[in-house]
Amino acid sequence: MKYKRLGLIVAFCFVSWLVLALVIFSDNLSKKIDVETRKGSLLKYIQELELQISQQEETYKLLVEKLKKLTPRPENVVPAMELKRILDYEPRTSSLAIRKDVLQEKSVILPVLVFSCNRPDIRRSLDGLLKYRPEAKKFPIIVSQDCAHGATAKVIRSYSDASQVTYIQQPDQSEPIVPPGEAKFKGYFKIARHYLFGLKQIFRTFNYTAVIIVEDDLDVAPDFFSYFASTYQLLKNDPTLWCVSAWNDNGKATLVDMQQGSQLLYRSDFFPGLGWMITKELWDELEPKWPKSYWDDWMRRPEQRKDRACIRPEISRTRTFGKIGVSNGMFFDKHLKYIKLNEMPVDFSTQNLSHMVQTAYDADYFRHVYSLPVVSASDVRTNTNLPFDGPLRITYHTKDTFKNAAKLLGLMDDFKSGVPRTGYHGIVSVFLNGRRVYLAPHSNWKGYDLTWS
Ligand SMILES: *[C@@H]1O[C@H](CO)[C@@H](O)[C@H](O)[C@H]1NC(C)=O
Ligand SMILES: *[C@@H]1O[C@H](CO)[C@@H](O)[C@H](O)[C@H]1NC(C)=O
Repeated sequence: MKYKRLGLIVAFCFVSWLVLALVIFSDNLSKKIDVETRKGSLLKYIQELELQISQQEETYKLLVEKLKKLTPRPENVVPAMELKRILDYEPRTSSLAIRKDVLQEKSVILPVLVFSCNRPDIRRSLDGLLKYRPEAKKFPIIVSQDCAHGATAKVIRSYSDASQVTYIQQPDQSEPIVPPGEAKFKGYFKIARHYLFGLKQIFRTFNYTAVIIVEDDLDVAPDFFSYFASTYQLLKNDPTLWCVSAWNDNGKATLVDMQQGSQLLYRSDFFPGLGWMITKELWDELEPKWPKSYWDDWMRRPEQRKDRACIRPEISRTRTFGKIGVSNGMFFDKHLKYIKLNEMPVDFSTQNLSHMVQTAYDADYFRHVYSLPVVSASDVRTNTNLPFDGPLRITYHTKDTFKNAAKLLGLMDDFKSGVPRTGYHGIVSVFLNGRRVYLAPHSNWKGYDLTWS
């Protein structure tokens, strides 16, 4: 993006120069025309001009080459001197806005907010984060603890004493007011209240511009930080995105491309959670209406999502090890524990992510998916009657045909606010028996049906 922008400036300057040259040229031309034509040297004059123009063009070409060579560095840092040289080398236009933008994006601080309650095992999460964190200054870790659980507090304090994390505590330990009939869901009310507290601290007290949110039972992949640092640019620049998540709800080893999928990213209409990033702008929007409970399903409702998507990876960058939590352990045993953590780290700072921007992504993705051969879910499952190789599409028309296909193939078959897990415009992408398979709605699909659940 950045190079493109600088390239555009250079191109703009060149064009301005041309226009100016033409103005001067025509000016001089009218004065000189009598004399020059008589002398028969008008041709020479034009040739001289041409030479000048091509020399100028050479200069700009060289500059563009130089810019292209400046590939992004590890940790997203363009050395200050180099950056200054590029920025100073702007012949005419002063583009303060762009300078500021470049500098801000490079230096943005992405705090990691860890929500904690009564799990001393938070040690495992913190050790993972600290192990893979490339830079303490760029990724400060803030642990917010609810529940005032002594053993857990002791563990967190050992990290804050060593200045490895900042420790904050939810002061409100009162019993939440729970509507009749929801007493057994009290935990969810506490969690929503804790999220409100923690995020307010991040954005109002610490005044950060974005946050990465995790819980105390997550392992992170080695490229967790690289993933968020690089996708931050996308999140900030594409208004049709509202979050980046490290999680693939269908991220089991049998459903993802473990060999080649590490770099693969998707857009998703389903808010995945489990290691996710938002900006302060989004928090400004959500805070005034933050719910009393079930915050994640609340986020997934159309009033909050407003048709915006999250970025999610093919292979998860987080994994949960917490069997005991507010949601029951069954879900962990049946599903969560099979989600694979990425094992082949990607340096996302060297990846060109511009194809993830909606305008580029949608056209390509839909054209691709809807050009594929259509097969049945049962044939995919048994691996029979299929084209020799290449990606395939399974079509669904109703909630039940979706659920049946999902069950046959072993994917999550539930919906939240009508959206299937990982779905993008209804399309769910998985990797089965060595090939890509898209579970896609019929081609004149008109949008999610809120009654599908
Ligand atoms: C927070 O940061 C913004 C700029 O990002 C600044 O205008 C504002 O004054 C800051 N607020 C506090 C409380 O520091
Ligand atoms: C990134 O990819 C896009 C096409 O998806 C291309 O137009 C652009 O020039 C590339 N940018 C860089 C810096 O290579």
